[in-house]
Amino acid sequence: MNILVIGSGGREHALAWKINQSALVDEVWSAPGNPGMHDVGPCFDVKADDIDGLEKLARQLDPDLVIVGPEQPLADGLADRLRSAGYDVFGPSAAAAQIEASKGFSKDLMAKYNIPTARYQRVTTVEAGKAFLDTLEAPFVLKADGLAAGKGVVIAETREVADKAVEDMLAGQFGAASAELVIEEFMQGEEASVFAITDGENFICLPAAQDHKRAYDGDEGPNTGGMGAYAPAPVISDALMSQVKETIVTPSLKGLEAEGAKFQGVLYVGLMISSEGPKVVEYNCRFGDPECQVLMMGLEGDIVPLLLASSTGGYSERDFEKLAPEGGFQPSVTVVMASEGYPGSYEKGTVIEGVKTADRLEGVKVFHAGTDVRDDGELVAVGGRVLNVTATGPTLEQAFQRAYSGINAIDWPKGFYRSDIGWRVRD
Ligand code: AMP
Ligand code: GLY
Repeated sequence: MNILVIGSGGREHALAWKINQSALVDEVWSAPGNPGMHDVGPCFDVKADDIDGLEKLARQLDPDLVIVGPEQPLADGLADRLRSAGYDVFGPSAAAAQIEASKGFSKDLMAKYNIPTARYQRVTTVEAGKAFLDTLEAPFVLKADGLAAGKGVVIAETREVADKAVEDMLAGQFGAASAELVIEEFMQGEEASVFAITDGENFICLPAAQDHKRAYDGDEGPNTGGMGAYAPAPVISDALMSQVKETIVTPSLKGLEAEGAKFQGVLYVGLMISSEGPKVVEYNCRFGDPECQVLMMGLEGDIVPLLLASSTGGYSERDFEKLAPEGGFQPSVTVVMASEGYPGSYEKGTVIEGVKTADRLEGVKVFHAGTDVRDDGELVAVGGRVLNVTATGPTLEQAFQRAYSGINAIDWPKGFYRSDIGWRVRD
C-alpha cells in the first residue's frame, strides 16, 4: 500500500521513517515534507493547512491511507474532507479535534463525564474572569480557548498579573483564540503524556513520554513546542497506566462518541500526576512533537496495522492489543537542536554539518524539522526547532548517551540544545 503523510516537522519525519519500514508499505509520500522526509519518499509541495490543495493531491495520488500530523488541518476539517472523498485517514474529524481546538469544549467534556481535571470556568468578560479568580488561590492558570500554537497558556504567580492577563487575553492578545478563556485551578505534580491510538471505541496506549517545554537547562526560559523527550516515563507505573486508561482514556472516548464526535486517530492526554492521582492538563488530537519521535524510534515492530485499524471501520481485527507492534519498546530519547534565539526571532539559512555522521552512530537517527537544502547542496536551518537527534538503547541511560554523541557529531554554530534532557530520570 501507499501512504501519504501530511506535515513537515520532526514528528512527520519520524512517522514517515517508521511506516516506511513496514512490510505492508510500498511508498511513503509526504506533503509538504522536509529534506529528511525526501530521503524516505517523494514530497509534494502542498502546505499542511491547504485543505483544498491536499484533497486535490489525494485524488491525484490515490493513497491507501493518509496520516495527518499537525492539529490545524484536523481542526479545519481535513480528515472529514478526505473521508468524504473516499480515503482512509489517521486523524480525527473536526468535531473530535475540538478536544484540542477548544479548551472550553474539552473542559466541559471532562466535567460531564467525570474525568479528573482542574476546577475551571469558561469566561468571555473581564468581570466574570475576575469573579472566578476570587475563588482561586495563586498561582492562577489562564488559557485561550482556541489554538494558539502552544502559546495560549498563562500561569500567573500573583493576582495582579492574573487580572492583567484576563484583560489582555480578552482584548485579543491571541487573536480570536482568546475571545473566550478557560480559567482554572493550578495543579501540583509531575507531568507526563499518554498516547492512545484508537478507532473511537477500542484503543491501545503507547508507552508514556515526558517532554521538556522550557527553552534552557534547568527548566528555565520561555516555553517552547518542546526541547526534548523520552519514553518510557518511569513516573507512569503499570498501575498508574491502568488507572489512566480506566479513569481518563475510556471515559474520554465514550464521552466524545456520546457527543457525536467519535475520535479516530491518536488521543494525546497531557497528565499531571498529583497527590490525588492522575488528572488531565490538556488533550491534543495528534501525536506530540517531539514525543512522536521517541515513540516511533522505540517501537520495535510494525505500527501500520494499528494506524490502519484506527482509520478504517472495515479493518477486521478490532482488538488493538492484538495489533501491538511485536518486539516491545526500547527506551528512547530525543534532543532538539533549535536556532539560536528560538522561541523568539532567529536567523535563517545557517549551515549545518555532520547530520549524516550522527545518523551513522549506533542507535541514532536524526529527524529533520526546520531544515532546507540550499542550491549548492548544503543543509541549512530555516525554522525554530531544526533537528531532533533521537536514540534508542538497552537502557534509558544508554539512549541518553547515544543521543548526546549524535549531538556532538553535528556542527552547527548557530544552533543550541538543552544538555539536561531527562534530568528527572538520570543519575
Ligand atoms: P496546556 O497547553 O494546556 O498543556 O498548558 C501548557 C502547560 O501549562 C502545561 O504543560 C503545564 O505545564 C501548564 N499547565 C496548564 N494547566 C495547568 C494547571 N491547571 N496546573 C498547573 N500547570 C498547568
Ligand atoms: N510537545 C508538546 C506538544 O506536541 O504539544
